[in-house]
Amino acid sequence: MNLTFTQEQEMMRKMVRDFATAEIAPFIENMEKGEFPREIIRKMGELGLMGIPVPEKYGGAEMDFTSYIIAIHELSKVSATVGVILSVHTSVCTNPILYFGSEEQKQKYVPKLASGEYLGAFCLTEASSGSDAASLKSRAVRKADHYVINGSKVFITNGGEADVYIVFASTNPELGSKGISAFIVEKGMPGLVIGKDEKKMGLHGSRTVQLTFEDMMVPVENLLGQEGAGFKIAMANLEVGRIGIATQALGIAEAALEAAIAYAKERRQFGKPIASQQGVGFKLADMATSVEAAKLLIYRAADLRTNGLKCGMEASMAKLFASRTAVEVATEAIQVFGGYGYTEDYPVERYFRDAKITEIYEGTSEIQRIVVSKHL
Ligand code: CAA
Repeated sequence: MNLTFTQEQEMMRKMVRDFATAEIAPFIENMEKGEFPREIIRKMGELGLMGIPVPEKYGGAEMDFTSYIIAIHELSKVSATVGVILSVHTSVCTNPILYFGSEEQKQKYVPKLASGEYLGAFCLTEASSGSDAASLKSRAVRKADHYVINGSKVFITNGGEADVYIVFASTNPELGSKGISAFIVEKGMPGLVIGKDEKKMGLHGSRTVQLTFEDMMVPVENLLGQEGAGFKIAMANLEVGRIGIATQALGIAEAALEAAIAYAKERRQFGKPIASQQGVGFKLADMATSVEAAKLLIYRAADLRTNGLKCGMEASMAKLFASRTAVEVATEAIQVFGGYGYTEDYPVERYFRDAKITEIYEGTSEIQRIVVSKHL
């Protein structure tokens, strides 16, 4: 694998880094108070960031998958909230339409998603069906030219703010995972009820809601793929989505590492900077080594994807390792900062709070181990 990035990819990195520093960093305080970064998303749309891997004919930037991962990486270093908004929007809302949608569906939805006019969400998880995604209870019944969907979803990232939702519901419960179908649902469709906005430990600027479908009427032309193909659509897109979440974790870990190094060089105890004392120096060395390893796993998985090769196992390995790294490195960064790290005066407590969810959503670490072990 060649880990030298192309000129185009380096330009993407610089552009996103500059954007994140200039536009996102000043808005972090607002996001920490719960404000959704609507204006930032609009500007990202203008820069082409909301449709990086989308073909030009559907209004996208038509760049490779690695460039998309570079964007999530740089965004997440500044704000994990913005990182997850982009990852969910692209990996598990735009991509399913792009890969499994009819030509009409692609033309209707993808250009608006790629420009950022529409924001996307993915609705799989239910109150009693998390890791066991195939056990979902939402039900879709065909009535003439509509499906009538009843049920509810929980922990929907971008929910409420999103304009397009990929919704999974069973059209034939007797068939288990093979009875699950996917639907493209628009915000205004009758029967879609936006519920409780979760109060979370971290990612305060990202919206996570419950959704209820009360006789929600979805036109038959909004069935995505064939009836019964929904579970495979969910899995295939989650597989790739997991590289995005791994990258979000990497961004958090790298930000925590950089903050810890800067502080350790500045902070003096026992007559010298704490960075030059072995207890702290070794800690920083371990943190940096883990971050580097996570980076290699992620860019390796991204490279496979960019080249159209299978990446399911590598994506799960990357997510498993990078999310653990984010939690460990953020924890150690607080340790380096000592008492100051526990206060809101420094960003490391935010990294710590934002890191934990990367071990949970888009498949817990335990689920990633199941996926990896099945491949083995
Ligand atoms: N691509 C295509 N098809 C796949 C696939 C993939 N990656 N993985 C599985 N399938 C297919 C299988 O081939 C099988 O079909 P066949 O019988 O025709 O071969 C079918 O799907 C069922 O597969 P399994 O028997 O392996 O399914 P399972 O019920 O044992 O579940 C699982 C497998 C990996 C545990 C899965 O349930 C899973 O990934 N669970 C975690 C759910 C998850 O990640 N949720 C995230 C929610 S979204 C989110 O978090 C977004 C956010 O907010 C950030």
